[in-house]
Amino acid sequence: MTDLSLQPEDLMSMTRPIRIFDTTLRDGEQSPGASMNLAEKLEVAHALAQLGVDVIEAGFPIASPGDFESVREIARAVRGSAVCGLARCNDADIDRAWEALQSAEQPRIHVFLATSSIHREFKLRMTEDEVLARAVAGVTRARGHCADVEFSPEDAARTEIDFLCRVVEAVIAAGATTVNIPDTVGYATPTHMHRVIKSLVDRVPNIDRAVISTHCHDDLGLAVANSLAAVEAGAGQIECTINGLGERAGNCSLEEVVMALRTRGDYYHCATRIVTQKLVPTSRLVANITGIQVPRNKAVVGKNAFAHESGIHQDGMLKEPRTYEIMRPEDVGLERTDLVLGKHSGRAALADRAKALGYQLSPEQLQTVFERFKLLADRKKEIYDGDIAALCEQQFSELPEQFVYDGYSLTCESGAAPTVTLRVLQEGRPRSATITAGDGPIDGIFLAIEKLTGITTACRDFRVQAVTVGKDAQAEVTVELEHAGQVQRGRGVSTDSLEASARAFLAATNRLALGGGPRLHPQRA
Ligand code: KIV
Ligand code: ZN
Repeated sequence: MTDLSLQPEDLMSMTRPIRIFDTTLRDGEQSPGASMNLAEKLEVAHALAQLGVDVIEAGFPIASPGDFESVREIARAVRGSAVCGLARCNDADIDRAWEALQSAEQPRIHVFLATSSIHREFKLRMTEDEVLARAVAGVTRARGHCADVEFSPEDAARTEIDFLCRVVEAVIAAGATTVNIPDTVGYATPTHMHRVIKSLVDRVPNIDRAVISTHCHDDLGLAVANSLAAVEAGAGQIECTINGLGERAGNCSLEEVVMALRTRGDYYHCATRIVTQKLVPTSRLVANITGIQVPRNKAVVGKNAFAHESGIHQDGMLKEPRTYEIMRPEDVGLERTDLVLGKHSGRAALADRAKALGYQLSPEQLQTVFERFKLLADRKKEIYDGDIAALCEQQFSELPEQFVYDGYSLTCESGAAPTVTLRVLQEGRPRSATITAGDGPIDGIFLAIEKLTGITTACRDFRVQAVTVGKDAQAEVTVELEHAGQVQRGRGVSTDSLEASARAFLAATNRLALGGGPRLHPQRA
């Protein structure tokens, strides 16, 4: 039976180490609506380093000045993980990636070029020999800058195996230290992926000079299974993202693949460096920053992942948790007890709880969270872990605000337009706008914000969910607003769902007011 008390350190000494390459900040950011600003990317990068990922793919430096700046800042700031930048196989991309990466503790350049016949014929209009020569030239150029170079034959899973073997052998000879095998379009199945990796292991003569990696997309819901199959066939690195974010249906989910390797250590005999107790806090951080919440039933990090509803299961759990749990909640960063603090709890208890949930607060941040906690405790009898996490995350995701929420008043009845007065502080000065318009109170608040700020937006997404349980649970509202070609997200949390909506609309409007410009998509750049 699997020994659940085994720690990753124990497993590492017994087993084959698997590198975790996180691409939340690059492929993950390609999820529609998931783009992040510099401060948010730095926050995520630090969290990934703390989580123990081996390589952080921080972005695609040539894609936009914003991408360049965030890769450069992450390279400067992050320690303990390699920092990687993506580049197409051309000199300008590769040189720009190096410019962004050079101050990293462990820089890595990741060059990619499509190899499948469909991409060669329709996208690149290049022959096999031309693709091979371009791949070798790209790796050679990257090695001129940096000792750690990864090469990806894009759409490898649909590439003819003989040609794939030729490309892999040639790029390793040119100095690639990692060869990544992407299933770019999520077409592979586990047996297919196993066969591809096994062919490389068996047929490429210099394969032992590079680490084989896997990068699977989830179009058929098989990304985690395909990555595990690749590991079984000999891959030593998995590319994945927090919450499985990524292009289209997303990438292999980091938390799932890591917990599969750990929970089934008896089968895979592999281990990662991931500090699994930080999985849930990191997942929450990314969900809140991107506004893409994980479904309740998501494996490992979903709200229901450790909830037992049926009486038979509950009975079994009380007698022996292993009857119905293959992982311990505390191993992924969840506590068994959820009910924690109340009105009379002090600052030390709050700091302790925040730390246990994975939030490192500075004294100033703790002070702000504590003040908000006291206000919340006046409105809400029981404060749960989810409430504390929401207060901490609010602290991390705040940006300088031009318009600071200061309250609303509202009268409405069904069938008539509401009258809304919205108050803000602009550079410390109180301002307000009153409007009688809108289809219900939320629309009225939205229109009052537009009137007050002078920024007209289109609402692309609006979601409300309860942070915890009970009638007095805090509502978490996330919105996505578009203005002049720019899309920004905002989030608001309050026991009053109208206040949460107003805060979310204002947060997104503040971001639009700060500007930022559209990003270029790597494969479209
Ligand atoms: O899916 C893909 O092929 C990629 C490459 C750039 C590695 O994201
Ligand atoms: Zn990808």
